[in-house]
Amino acid sequence: MEFTSTSSADTKKFAAEFINKKKAPPPPAAGGGGATVVGLYGNLGSGKTTFVQCVAELLGVAEPVTSPTFVILKTYKLKTKNYKLLHHLDAYRLKSGDDLRKLGFEKLLRDKTSLILIEWADRVAGILPPGHIKVYFEFVDDKTRRLSFVSGVS
Ligand SMILES: Nc1ncnc2c1ncn2[C@@H]1O[C@H](COP(=O)(O)OP(=O)(O)O)[C@@H](O)[C@H]1O
Ligand SMILES: [Mg+2]
Repeated sequence: MEFTSTSSADTKKFAAEFINKKKAPPPPAAGGGGATVVGLYGNLGSGKTTFVQCVAELLGVAEPVTSPTFVILKTYKLKTKNYKLLHHLDAYRLKSGDDLRKLGFEKLLRDKTSLILIEWADRVAGILPPGHIKVYFEFVDDKTRRLSFVSGVS
């Protein structure tokens, strides 16, 4: 699905589509049988963190979601049918998948009740399941972002 967003409210509509399981079930390889992994691809300011904030809000996270650029990982509890935890990662400051491995990422990957959203996924591509779900973000102008995904999550 391709979407042009001209506001955070628009990005929330896109996020709602993304977590609408009926229209777009994830491919079986998305989490390799474990966690559901979503790679967020796009440059600085393209709207990745905004998207995660929208997803978190839609899944019932009440606390504010802020960028985990410096802490790398932030975890929120969920009470949805399929997910108990939302892990929000930011790989901006990492060099490779090995850096994530050192932080215990493989353990997170094994938990099928976890939804993992990773900003700057291209930096740690080596450790992500090959069939993970991908969401693309593009800066168009001050207010406009192009957003797209092929399959969403359930
Ligand atoms: N249509 C839009 N969708 C999302 N963010 C937008 C949009 N228009 C402007 N913005 C602004 O762009 C910035 C996006 O930042 P952020 O979500 O942190 O991006 P990233 O995590 O990709 O660096 C925010 O300041 C946000 O308010
Ligand atoms: Mg960000």
